[in-house]
Parts: sequence; structure tokens; C-alpha cells
Amino acid sequence: MYYPDTVVEEVRAANDIVDVISQYVKLTKKGSNYFGLCPFHSEKTGSFSVSREKQMYYCFGCGAGGNVITFLMEYENAAFPEALKMLADRAGIRLPEREATKEEKAAADLRTALLEINKEAARYFYYQLKGSRGGHAMEYLKKRQLSDETIKKFGLGYACISGDDLYRYLKSKGYSDSLLAQSGLVRIDEKGGHDKFWNRVMFPIMDVNSRVIGFGGRVMGEGTPKYLNSPETRIFDKSRNLYGLNVARSSRKPYLLICEGYMDVISMHQAGFTNAVASLGTAFTLQHGVLIKRYVNQVILTYDSDEAGIKAALRAIPILRDAGISVKVLNMRPYKDPDEFIKAEGAESFQKRIDEAENSFLFEIGVLRKQYDFQDPEQKTAFQNETARKLLEFREELERNNYIEAVASRYGMGYEQLKRLVASQAGQYRPGQAERNREPAARKKKGEKDDGNRRAQRLLLTWLISEPALFPKVSPYVREEDFTDPLYQRVAAMVFEQLREGRVNPGGILNHFINMEEEYRSVAEIFNTTLQDVSTKEEREKAVSDIVRRVKLNSLEQAGRQDGDLNALQQLLKQQAQLRTLHISLD
Ligand code: GTP
Ligand code: MN
Repeated sequence: MYYPDTVVEEVRAANDIVDVISQYVKLTKKGSNYFGLCPFHSEKTGSFSVSREKQMYYCFGCGAGGNVITFLMEYENAAFPEALKMLADRAGIRLPEREATKEEKAAADLRTALLEINKEAARYFYYQLKGSRGGHAMEYLKKRQLSDETIKKFGLGYACISGDDLYRYLKSKGYSDSLLAQSGLVRIDEKGGHDKFWNRVMFPIMDVNSRVIGFGGRVMGEGTPKYLNSPETRIFDKSRNLYGLNVARSSRKPYLLICEGYMDVISMHQAGFTNAVASLGTAFTLQHGVLIKRYVNQVILTYDSDEAGIKAALRAIPILRDAGISVKVLNMRPYKDPDEFIKAEGAESFQKRIDEAENSFLFEIGVLRKQYDFQDPEQKTAFQNETARKLLEFREELERNNYIEAVASRYGMGYEQLKRLVASQAGQYRPGQAERNREPAARKKKGEKDDGNRRAQRLLLTWLISEPALFPKVSPYVREEDFTDPLYQRVAAMVFEQLREGRVNPGGILNHFINMEEEYRSVAEIFNTTLQDVSTKEEREKAVSDIVRRVKLNSLEQAGRQDGDLNALQQLLKQQAQLRTLHISLD
């Protein structure tokens, strides 16, 4: 659904951000901003700020930030149109009814058809399993100790050995070749249609609303590939779905069990652990984390006990933490996976392992420990230094000290000794290092090199929106084009336009980025760079001059790299020389 910019801006402007966020977060006024505990990551000191002037929020701890609309989107896990509707209702604004465009209708129709096809296929596989040809598959599932009730609950099925049964069945229902090809269940070539799955037991994959969106198929016995999965389609996004979540979401337990495989989920559910889910043969993503966070604040990882499982756990832990979820790790040894554990030891034993699950930080340190030989003093020291460095990730003192205590006692170090080591490690890092370690993985992954030039560009924009009076002093020197990062340049163009027209509105600028994945977060960051503490006029003049010089020199340097002719180069050198003596006076 598309709404005109003017409507979006009207709704945003009619909902004061401090009033709206106050309904969710307890805010306290400090200076011109309001502060509270960040609802997007767990913390004990309030790094979450809300500004009435900017009409923005920003968390200095986790980097979450945006305007009143993105706040509702993130807090309520709402899509943009839903968030807009809530705010429009709150302000008594009637949103215009708008017909979906032709493309939107076509996309919606395609999704509906693909959902139907997957549902038909699930039904077909289920009847094959129950029918005369399914004996072999049924035997396999029985051998794996699945009850009839479990088979029914998960809708398990069988894709039989012929290569085009499902294709012919779906054709008989009237679906076109093109549609069937888009479902991923069928491959079409000049000889006709071929089923993707054959001679496999089938696990329908459902979204949280129990709609079938794809399948996993397992060979019966040995054979490769052991599991075959539906490809990603218009309705199947592996990084945004978890197997079993449709059931687990209503288990009423405060945590989810996350495992690797379909069979593990099913075994756990059958043994009464109905809060088990699995990521679908893909690595764990931040979107998975966000999805989980809708339902619980805690997970227990029950990955395989082999090296691959440990690696998968080490990858998932920081992602889940970034999503604000507390993580524990279950020890499965000596068994390989939850399915084998439960078969060998039973549900009671498994529950005991759940109760004993290890804090994920201590798990990480435990894995690290195995890489060092403590007989060798050099290696032992290296381990201790690495551990101290990791402990720095805890920015809150109380929490950090609790972890220092736990690690010290576990690895035979003195508490005071380890604390000193952590403090000395802190000295060796530039301030802000620890915070950066905890930046959301998604942003870190983009490889954003947070160098001084980008920071200077952000500082300049933050400063200009906070003090529009600076603009006439700065504008003779810096233009939009001097912002070298493409996103910053777009933002700068909007800020400069508003400054020229004398109506600064950072919250409104964010409207333009709401539908662009997480870009509004980066924009929020641009507007919330911490300004140096400058009080005297001389200090302010020096700071502004320094920033303008840095931004401009960087821009000239980049331009210089592009055109190489001598004249241009001389021109460039001259400009650079002038810049070195630049002084902006703030009279
Ligand atoms: P069982 O042997 O049936 O008990 O399965 P498992 O869950 O113990 O198997 P494993 O640990 O080997 O695999 C865990 C998960 O990884 C599976 O549920 C699949 O989602 C995925 N997987 C395993 N093997 C393959 C494969 O060959 N191809 C693909 N695409 N995924 C696989
Ligand atoms: Mn297994």
C-alpha cells in the first residue's frame, strides 16, 4: 500500500514523538532530551534518547534510531502501513483509501496462488504417505519412533518414486506450467514437468500462521542429499521463517529451543518440548532474531554437539544478543542432537539439561579456552588477555563485574587480578571500541568503515540541524556534493534544502527512508553524532572550522583521484592550501 509523502508527513507531524514513546518507555527529561531504558536491547542504564526538537529517537547503546513511525514499526513489529494507521487513528486523521496498483494486485495474486499450490502439495504428500504406496515411508517414520499423532500434527508426507506424479496432480487442478515452476516444486523443460521431490519423506514448512510455504524432504535411509529443501520463492524466505514456530509460538514458555533439524524439532515436540524451532538449513540471521523477539526474550541453543554445531552456535549468539535476546547453550554430550538424546535418555533427562544450560558468554569463553594449552605460560596469558578483551564488551559496570567474577572463579584467576587486566585492556583501546563491538551485526556486516571522514560528515549534519544559525557560516564552504557517502549525500541535500527554506525537520527527513530496509537507522545515526563538549566561542569556532575543513579536504581528495589533468591538479592544490588556513568566525 502506497501513501503520498504529504499524508505520511501529516500523520508523523500530528504525533509528537515524546508523547507516543512515553506510552511505551518511561522517559526522564535531561537537558533538552528525554532518556529511558532502550526497548530494543537489554540495558540497565538509559542510553535511549528522544528529542522533541528533532522528533527522533536514538539509542547510543545499540544504534536503534528513527522517527515516530519507525518506532512503532520496530516496537510493535508492524509493517509501515500498519504503523501509519495506528498513528493516524491516534491523531484522528483519516487515511485516504487507495486502490492497490496493478503490480501490487498481480504480486498478491501470485502469492495467493503459490500458497494454494503448496497447500495442495502438502495434502497430496500426506495422502501418499497414508495410501498404499506409502508403506515404505511409513515404516521409516515408525522406525524413527514418530507417533501417528505427531505425523498428523506436522502434516508429514511422502513423495513417491515416480518423477512427475505431483506435477500431473497439480496440472489436473488447473495450475499453469509457469505458476508451477514458480512454486519451486516442479521443474519444467522441453520434455514436460518433473517433480523436485521424489522418494522422500516430506516435511511441510509453515509460516507463523500455519500456511505451507515450502518443504523439506529426507531420503529414507542413506543417500545424498540427505535433505532437499524447496528453493526460496515469492512466499518462502528462509531467513525470515523458522520451522515449528507456528506451534512453538503458543507454547506459553518464556523461551524457545533452537535446534538444527526438522527431526530434532519434531522429536522435541513429541517429547513435550513444544517450544522447539529450527532454522531451515541456513545460517541464523538477524531477521530470525527479530522474528523470535516478537515472542520471547530468551532462547536455548540445542545445536548438534559436533564442531559444525559449535560453530553455528558461536555465529548465532551475537546475532541473537543484538536482537535483545538472552541466550543459553545446552550441553548435548555425549549425544549428537536432541533427537538422539531424547531417544537415549528420555524427556526428563533432557529437561535437566535445559535447566543446566550454560550462559552464552561463558560458553564462548569455554570454546576459546580449548584453543590454548595452559601448561604453556605464554598461551595461558594470551587466553587471559583475549578473555579480558571480550569482557570489555559489557559496557555496564555491574554486569561486567559479575561476568569477571564468574570467569575468574571458573578459570582459577583472582577477581581483582582479572578486573585489573580488563581495565588495562580498556586503556589500550580507543574509546568507543567496546560500544562498536556491540553494534547490530547487520550494520557491522555492511563493512561500514567508520573512519574520521564519515564521522566528520555526520558531525556536520548533526550540528547543522541542532544549530541552524550555523548554516550561513558553513554554506559558502560546503555543498551537498562534498558528502562523499551516497546516503550521507542524499541526506545532506535534504537538510540543506530545509536550511535554505528555514524549516529544519529531521524527523520528516526520515520518512524518505522508512521503506528502505534499515537505512533509517543509519540516517538516525547521522543526526545523533555526539557533539564535542565545546563551550567557549573560540572552541566552537575551532571545532566548526576543523569539521568543515575535514569534510572539504576529503571531498577534494576524492575529486582529485578522479580527474588527473595538470590544471585540475594545480587548482586542487591551491584549494587545499586555502583550506588549511580556513577559519570560520561565529560573530
Ligand atoms: P536426521 O539424520 O534425519 O536425524 O537429520 P539431522 O537433523 O540429524 O541431520 P543433520 O544434522 O545432518 O542436518 C540438520 C539439518 O541440516 C537438516 O534438518 C536440514 O535442514 C539440513 N541438512 C542436512 N543435510 C542436508 C543436505 O544434504 N542438504 C540440505 N540442503 N540441507 C541439509
Ligand atoms: Mn538426527
